[in-house]
Amino acid sequence: MNQGHRSESVQIAKLQTEIKMLREQLLQSEKLASLGQLAAGVAHEINNPIGYVASNMKVLAEYSSNLIHLVKRLSQQVDDETRANLLAHFDFEYVCDDLPKLVLESEQGLSRVVGIIHDLKDFSHIEQADFVEADLHQGILSTLNLVSNELKYRADVVKDFAELPKVNCIPSQLNQVLLNLLLNAAKAIKQDGTITITTGFDDFWVWFAVSDNGEGMDSVQLGRIFEPFYTTKPKGEGTGLGLSLSRGIVEKHQGVINVSSTPGVGSCFTVKIPR
Ligand SMILES: Nc1ncnc2c1ncn2[C@@H]1O[C@H](COP(=O)(O)OP(=O)(O)O)[C@@H](O)[C@H]1O
Ligand SMILES: [Mg+2]
Repeated sequence: MNQGHRSESVQIAKLQTEIKMLREQLLQSEKLASLGQLAAGVAHEINNPIGYVASNMKVLAEYSSNLIHLVKRLSQQVDDETRANLLAHFDFEYVCDDLPKLVLESEQGLSRVVGIIHDLKDFSHIEQADFVEADLHQGILSTLNLVSNELKYRADVVKDFAELPKVNCIPSQLNQVLLNLLLNAAKAIKQDGTITITTGFDDFWVWFAVSDNGEGMDSVQLGRIFEPFYTTKPKGEGTGLGLSLSRGIVEKHQGVINVSSTPGVGSCFTVKIPR
């Protein structure tokens, strides 16, 4: 084989690996998109039954308190001994005490479910694959709510929010970016860390930053983290696609994603979107 052929086949091999990587990247982003669709679909389906359960709960609370009053009144009509026996038999005092508590607890549980559904819808925004004027904080808060369970055993989350102008963006995609940054930050913290979300703006940019006091990265790692498939996580845990997809999303917004990190001290990722 002459020199020309060799370099040609090296080129072809390189292109083939690139195609393979791009294909897997595409697959991954399609998976994320269909996950978002699924979440939004489920949220939509749950919304309806939750709606009538919640409104039934209000009526039930009223009916049960009426019934309790009725029983109390009626029980005045019978002699003391019969009344005492009957009320004891049905554990009436306990029921009177417990019933309102049960109703209240159920209402609180329901409103939590309603909150989760709201966040899921907000997070996935499937109806919005286009650029819209959006409030970044809204997306940040719902994304945070969705992962709060994942975060709370490792880290406290501190919000340092500025008053932000609206920004032209695809909210569901920026939510994906934030989600990935938050999960990465949590992963970098072994225990009892802090994740700080800061927002701000200047004449050109609106930005949010996620910083952690986790394990940090050295310069070799920093040079590679945006490569597709670069991961330091065990097989099955990390895909190494989060940051490369995130960078793709941010670039689609004509934005930039910056990172600074010190081993043993922590990392800070900043996402800037043009105003
Ligand atoms: N906050 C962080 N602290 C320390 N290392 C990080 C942080 N965020 C990302 N990294 C490094 O970058 C790598 C790539 O991240 P990412 O593209 O999200 O893929 P994955 O999370 O699947 O590993 C991680 O495996 C980790 O080594
Ligand atoms: Mg990740």
